[in-house]
Amino acid sequence: MNIFKKRAPAAEQAAEEGSKTNEKKHATLDIFDFSGENAITVKDVDLYYGEFQALKNINMAMPKYQITAMIGPSGCGKSTLIKTLNRMNDLVEGCRVEGEITIGGLNIYDKGVDLSALRKNVGMVFQKPNPFPMSVYDNIAYGPRTFGIKKKSTLDEIVERSLKQAAMWDELKDRLNKSALGLSGGQQQRLCIARALAVGPQILLMDEPTSALDPISTGKIEELCEELKKDVTIVMVTHNMQQAARISDKTAFFLLGEMIEMGDTEQIFSAPTHPETERYITGRFG
Ligand SMILES: Nc1ncnc2c1ncn2[C@@H]1O[C@H](COP(=O)(O)OP(=O)(O)OP(=O)(O)O)[C@@H](O)[C@H]1O
Ligand SMILES: [Mg+2]
Repeated sequence: MNIFKKRAPAAEQAAEEGSKTNEKKHATLDIFDFSGENAITVKDVDLYYGEFQALKNINMAMPKYQITAMIGPSGCGKSTLIKTLNRMNDLVEGCRVEGEITIGGLNIYDKGVDLSALRKNVGMVFQKPNPFPMSVYDNIAYGPRTFGIKKKSTLDEIVERSLKQAAMWDELKDRLNKSALGLSGGQQQRLCIARALAVGPQILLMDEPTSALDPISTGKIEELCEELKKDVTIVMVTHNMQQAARISDKTAFFLLGEMIEMGDTEQIFSAPTHPETERYITGRFG
């Protein structure tokens, strides 16, 4: 199956327009092949911050078009691992990764991997909403513009489609030219999701995306994730056990830099294999 057929139309357009302006870039975007069963495979991964080993021999796979939740106590390495998946750790001085992370058929730590192509395919949403200090429209158009799309009508379509995908179009269609900083926290976070979707990622990484939000905004983002997984593979870090149980298909439990167990969410929450997992999910940890 050709994954590009499954992509959001915005991505198709982005790739197409990009090719007109920059054929080389287009070629590098095509190197990812998501036809396999797993969107991400992590094999024997160790990660060091200087001398400190933050991840120890991690092995796991995130199935395509499913939501994988990563849970575990503070400091166990969840953010560290999620950041390895689009090489955000490259920005941390002294950070060293060993092992293999295969995304779309490529080991993303191989020399010569095009980071902008990687990050186009693997978007990220953080705990704190971080809209750019510009209009709603420009926030969404930012990514597509960096991939060479200039045509106003194409950008208009991408903005509309991305906001619809993030279930925000009706709410924001009359505020496109207003500053994104004037939105509520919950709206800002959904805008950040729309911004990530605008370049047509195959994978969306979310690090505690709702921990700063009220229950209503949290519910909206959870609903959105359920909808998005038709087209996108989601990896989400959460401290909210109910959230993991509600929306994820797979759950992985981490402790002190190790992945203790991973399985179907139902199994992890009803019959975990390891006593540490049970203690954590039942709130008897520490
Ligand atoms: N840039 C860094 N330099 C050095 N050590 C770091 C760095 N970032 C994280 N660490 C350490 O790596 C370990 C894992 O941190 P990480 O942020 O991945 O944990 P976490 O599971 O996301 O925790 P939380 O639930 O609190 O967000 C911790 O011991 C942390 O202190
Ligand atoms: Mg974290």
